[in-house]
Amino acid sequence: MRILAVVGGLAIIVGIGAAIFFFGGFYSVAGTAEDPAIVRWALTQVRMASINRNAHDQPPVSINDPASVQAGANAFAAHGCTNCHGGPGVNWAKFSEGLHPDPPDLKEVVDHRSPAQLFWVVRNGINMTGMPSFALAGAKDNEIWSIVAFLKKLPGVSEADYKAWTVPPPALAAPTPSAAAPAPPAEIK
Ligand code: HEC
Repeated sequence: MRILAVVGGLAIIVGIGAAIFFFGGFYSVAGTAEDPAIVRWALTQVRMASINRNAHDQPPVSINDPASVQAGANAFAAHGCTNCHGGPGVNWAKFSEGLHPDPPDLKEVVDHRSPAQLFWVVRNGINMTGMPSFALAGAKDNEIWSIVAFLKKLPGVSEADYKAWTVPPPALAAPTPSAAAPAPPAEIK
């Protein structure tokens, strides 16, 4: 009985101490504050456990299809992924060096992740980090699958390929005169 009272008393003291520590402003939320190693380890474990439990979707079409890979490269550029992660021949924006945790270099990560895991992360984002949910940002699932197709090939994509795949086709930039003005109907003889 006495032991229980002591344990209960200690729990209350720890609870009050934690409340003062967090709500009294003693815990620093500064992005410059380094997390202790145990917090970093725990965050990674929790992230991977959550992704593993939730990421089960399978690609609707083959993600090896070159057209998907190229469309994915274009979507990757258009959604601004390079600002944080960089890409083949493209540097990340300077501000991303101020993000905490660091956005990883994706070509070093993608071989260790399944398509389902990549899809889930890009679709849902990672809460309380800089990684946005691209479903909330307006990307459709099939577009996200094309990004996954591109990501799985990323380690082998050359700068030249990436450049070629992310340039909009000239037909979109400048419609040809014949398309703009349909020919008059032929005269009936
Ligand atoms: C504003 C910055 C930002 C943008 C833009 C961004 N990301 Fe991220 N991304 C992050 C950060 C930060 C992390 C690391 C989160 C963590 O460590 O938990 C991350 C993590 C990831 C991961 C998980 C890596 C792993 O270890 O499993 C993938 C995959 C990813 N991003 C893909 C993308 C794609 C694709 C886009 C564009 C559609 C994108 N990101 C846009 C900041 C960003």
